[in-house]
Amino acid sequence: MLANRRRPIGDSGFSVAPVALGCWPIAGVTTLGTTDAESIATIRACFDLGINHLDTAFVYGPHGESESLIRQAIAGRREELVIATKGGIHFEGSGMANDARPETLHAECEESLRRLATDRVELYYLHAPDPKTPVEESAGAILELVEAGKVRSAGASNCSLDQLKAFHAVCRLAAVQLPYNMLQRGIEKKTLPWCREQNIAVMVYWPLMKGLLAGKLPRDYQFAEGDSRLKYPMYRGKEWERNQDFLDQLRVIAGEAQITVAQLVVAWTFSQPGVTTALCGARRPEQICETGGALQVELSPQQRGAIEAALDARGPVESDRQFE
Ligand SMILES: NC(=O)c1ccc[n+]([C@@H]2O[C@H](COP(=O)([O-])OP(=O)(O)OC[C@H]3O[C@@H](n4cnc5c(N)ncnc54)[C@H](OP(=O)(O)O)[C@@H]3O)[C@@H](O)[C@H]2O)c1
Repeated sequence: MLANRRRPIGDSGFSVAPVALGCWPIAGVTTLGTTDAESIATIRACFDLGINHLDTAFVYGPHGESESLIRQAIAGRREELVIATKGGIHFEGSGMANDARPETLHAECEESLRRLATDRVELYYLHAPDPKTPVEESAGAILELVEAGKVRSAGASNCSLDQLKAFHAVCRLAAVQLPYNMLQRGIEKKTLPWCREQNIAVMVYWPLMKGLLAGKLPRDYQFAEGDSRLKYPMYRGKEWERNQDFLDQLRVIAGEAQITVAQLVVAWTFSQPGVTTALCGARRPEQICETGGALQVELSPQQRGAIEAALDARGPVESDRQFE
């Protein structure tokens, strides 16, 4: 049953389902045609699915749209949730900038708490290392936030293993957050084993590779102008074709299991050794209802073997984000 499947976030004392709602798409920055009503319904759908973890960030929306929508959606049910947010990246003009100086992290955390209408978050991440600020200084600021009770546990995202070690030496990490999916498995080499050794939870982003691995974009899909997914190699040319061939194989495996491709992909992701939770982005309730359905799926060794064989047949992946 679901309750048995809750997993600890390191030694924070909190535990979460292996599927969380990733709250980037509801910010509407890269997702086209997002509405507030659908976003709020998406967040509320989590309660019935047994999803108790929402992942957001200061920078999800130029004016904190994601955090503000969460506040509206969870009114009266805050205590049921583990909320994670992040600081250290902000909007600057039409782009984003890194600033993870201690004073900035303090100010952004205050602003996130205000938007969320809460006095603390269960998990607060350094969103990404700031090239101008030593990671130890950012970690020191997050430790101060923990000591002040505004943040109940610390995390770090988009850090190399050396940066994670430097952070952890200053401020105990409960969780790290990195990209990971069937097609991007770099962290299996070093980071996942280190996190297991240190009892640090690993929350993985892009489990569906921004929708590709939901298997619903047909081979001849016409991307709308402004669809930012086209910037990723996986969505273009030969890589797109190879991914479609791979998805054809996943369709067979999912069909035999009587589940959807998205459920197969998400269930595979959160059952990989060392992975705590798959952060599944969604902007409509039916999307999180489908991916949340993976919580009921236990893959057999034969199904896992068939997936590995399909991955071998697909061959090496061209990816723009490399973490080991
Ligand atoms: N720490 C970081 O730097 C970082 C970076 C990226 C993400 N994240 C976190 O990780 C979360 C996940 O990443 P993500 O949201 O970018 O990508 P994702 O979970 O791989 O994909 C989300 C997208 O997949 C599509 N989708 C979802 N469920 C679907 C379904 N059942 N059927 C068909 N399509 C479906 C939707 O796209 P459409 O409806 O638009 O087609 C949705 O916007 C984020 O929301 C965020 O919380 C963190």
